[in-house]
Amino acid sequence: MIKTRILLDCEETPTHYVNILPHLETPLPPPLDPGTEEPISADALLALFPKECVKQEVATEKRIAIPEEVRDILIRSGRPTPLQRAVGLERYLKTPARIYFKREDASPTGSHKLNTATAQAYYAQKEGTERLATETGAGQWGSAVALACSYFGLEAMIYMVRISYEQKQYRGTLMRTYGGTVVPSPSDRTAYGRKVNADNPDHPGTLGIAISEALEDTINTANTKYTLGSVLNFVLLQQTVIGQEVKAQLAAAEETPDVFIGCVGGGSNFAGMTYPFLADDKFRECDYIAVEPTACPSLTKGEYRYDFGDTAGMTPKLKMYTLGADFVPPKIHAGGLRYHGVAPTISALVEESRIRPIAYDQLEVLNAGVVFAKTEGVIPAPESAHAIKAAIDIALEAKKKKKSKVIVFNLSGHGHFDMAAYGALLDGTLNGEDVSTTTQVQREAVAFTER
Ligand SMILES: Cc1ncc(COP(=O)(O)O)c(C=O)c1O
Repeated sequence: MIKTRILLDCEETPTHYVNILPHLETPLPPPLDPGTEEPISADALLALFPKECVKQEVATEKRIAIPEEVRDILIRSGRPTPLQRAVGLERYLKTPARIYFKREDASPTGSHKLNTATAQAYYAQKEGTERLATETGAGQWGSAVALACSYFGLEAMIYMVRISYEQKQYRGTLMRTYGGTVVPSPSDRTAYGRKVNADNPDHPGTLGIAISEALEDTINTANTKYTLGSVLNFVLLQQTVIGQEVKAQLAAAEETPDVFIGCVGGGSNFAGMTYPFLADDKFRECDYIAVEPTACPSLTKGEYRYDFGDTAGMTPKLKMYTLGADFVPPKIHAGGLRYHGVAPTISALVEESRIRPIAYDQLEVLNAGVVFAKTEGVIPAPESAHAIKAAIDIALEAKKKKKSKVIVFNLSGHGHFDMAAYGALLDGTLNGEDVSTTTQVQREAVAFTER
């Protein structure tokens, strides 16, 4: 019988984070002060983030110890998460490839985001902060922050992109159940939100606008720090527990990986899975595929240049692939991928040709999500379904070439709060394009039966 679930014991939960900075071919271009265009001072970052996070942002060590309090919570929250072989999907595709997926959906809040939320809340509380402010797109990050704040006795203030707030009402309820306060962004709580609303009362919101609101809130409220769910180096490295576990699990399964796949919004789940491998010469030849939506194609169509991380121009300027800080992406259901930029470290690795970016349409992605649900039983988050679509394509390519391949993808989250997306797909009303969508859904279904 095939061993389908590869589990580790709690003791094997990683004790360190992996830092990618010392493994880059050229030093990462520093964040710039938007006023002077000079590298930003640590003091400016300390106004926003806990000291330990600022230290990790520019750390030169290859490994950074995880505090015991954080590790305990990770274990209580289900780490190590299983690595699972997608036998049902393999059989459905009739592929010789072996497909594995990392179960970050197993976290209590439904995604990988709790890994870094726990660390950031811990450092903030230890340094005397009483309140965290943040933005959230699809709501996975906001849920993780609300729970992490509850664990450490902090207040959580969450600005949720309006379109997601409306599409995923129960996400807001989940955040409130954990004790957080959540408002749709653009909101009337900040001067910037009021300005955007005055210009366009029906604005769907973007991650860039919500970040600006959370930053304004942080600067104007006592005892508050800002907490970020992606993009910066300290956030990405706090996710590397994922890839370190995958490494141990593949070794236990006596598998040698060929391809790693993850979806990319700001880049944290992709980095969390791949950086422990990218930092290891033994895995130099693997294919690292970053998947984004065609609706928000930062890596595949953006420019590599300095840009703001938010829309109001309040963040330091970051050297990254960007569509421009004022880009408003279409209202796709993968709200966590509606971000104009990408992490500077991921951007640098794309420049070094060590990461290969690709993009898919919403329709083909959600169809892949349905195939995965039917064959593996798990409803993926629309963000994670991007990785599934790529895994299916690579597995079908392996079948055509009659060559076996070991494919590993990160299931960054479940889609239990995203049923409106799947409902729209099944009803043929995705994005209101009734007729064409229905036709395309049927065409896609044929393509899958002809596999
Ligand atoms: C389930 C899930 N996957 C992926 C992402 C994208 O973020 P990142 O690229 O930082 O992993 C999000 C963001 O909200 C998410 O909720």
